[in-house]
Amino acid sequence: MADHYTQRADAGLIVAEAATPSAVGQTNPNITAIHTPAHVAGWRRVTDAVRDAGGRMFLQLQHGGRIGHPATSGHLPLAPSPVPLPGTVFTSEGHRPAVVPREMTGDDIRATVAGFAAAARRALDAGFEGVEVHAADGYLPHQSLAGNTNRRTDEYGGSVAGRIRFVVEVVEAVVAEVGAGHVGVRIAPGLTVNGIEEGDTEALYPALVAALRPLGLAYLHVVYADPDSPVFRRIRADWPGTLVANPVLGELTTDAVRRAGERLLAAGADLVALGRLILADPDLVARLRLGAPLNPVRDRYLMYVGGAIGYTDYPTLAESPSSSAMVAVDAERVA
Ligand SMILES: Cc1cc2nc3c(=O)[nH]c(=O)nc-3n(C[C@H](O)[C@H](O)[C@H](O)COP(=O)(O)O)c2cc1C
Repeated sequence: MADHYTQRADAGLIVAEAATPSAVGQTNPNITAIHTPAHVAGWRRVTDAVRDAGGRMFLQLQHGGRIGHPATSGHLPLAPSPVPLPGTVFTSEGHRPAVVPREMTGDDIRATVAGFAAAARRALDAGFEGVEVHAADGYLPHQSLAGNTNRRTDEYGGSVAGRIRFVVEVVEAVVAEVGAGHVGVRIAPGLTVNGIEEGDTEALYPALVAALRPLGLAYLHVVYADPDSPVFRRIRADWPGTLVANPVLGELTTDAVRRAGERLLAAGADLVALGRLILADPDLVARLRLGAPLNPVRDRYLMYVGGAIGYTDYPTLAESPSSSAMVAVDAERVA
């Protein structure tokens, strides 16, 4: 991991992969974590290497809520309401039907909020410049926002004001712990991944943004941002701070990235976040500056398994002739 991130240290900001802030918040097997001293020591090796190479990193805090499984975490997952994920979850024992999560009590909510703050403190102890609260992609905070996964009748459910409460409390607690300048939040308005149906996206996000605005966060980060969508325009109009936008990319080419990035910047984004291409191109910044071709993104299978293959062995521009050979070798590996 230290090698992978160090190879990419010239990115403006690296938001490291999702780390679970508590044992019960774990989603898939072998994801990273930040709730014990050993996690701090492990991440420290990564942040030291990246800082030595001139890079800056935030750590993303991801509590999976109902996307957890006892076969992986040893715990029954917690969620706003006992509504299971439709389908299966990838666990330490392979794909298993999702379990019915336990509805969080008031004590669970307070402990989870405190867990995010403690994880943020550990992240800074581990050498990160800040943390990104993952409120996107159908994980616990997103489950609290969405009407189909939050069926609560107490002050944490029901109206928009109720459903944004948990996320706002998490962010406030993290800010109180490490300072607003060290905190970003990632959101995914309207995204239906992981069985999410918000129901009232157009009302939900303006209310969330209004509640987060006074905190003075480092940034707000919108996933799969469509610059023409009313919700994106409204967020930009309402959010006075730095706005990071992750584009929807049809093609993974230099021209397509440039076009998507320019459209987002023209619509008011301050920064463009890229996932697969920074994975596939250790020298992405140089390639985009030069207008040079990008590496083909390799099989998805290689993105979610351990080991260096698919993480540290993507060639730089100077080494590039080997990249097509690599794709052929991958086909055999994946098979
Ligand atoms: C291998 C892989 C791992 C990812 N891990 C995370 C993650 O930990 N947290 C997160 O918010 N998004 C994660 N994503 C989603 C990306 O951040 C990004 O939103 C998505 O890939 C779309 O952007 P892209 O078209 O630039 O790849 C991941 C994507 C990939 C391909």
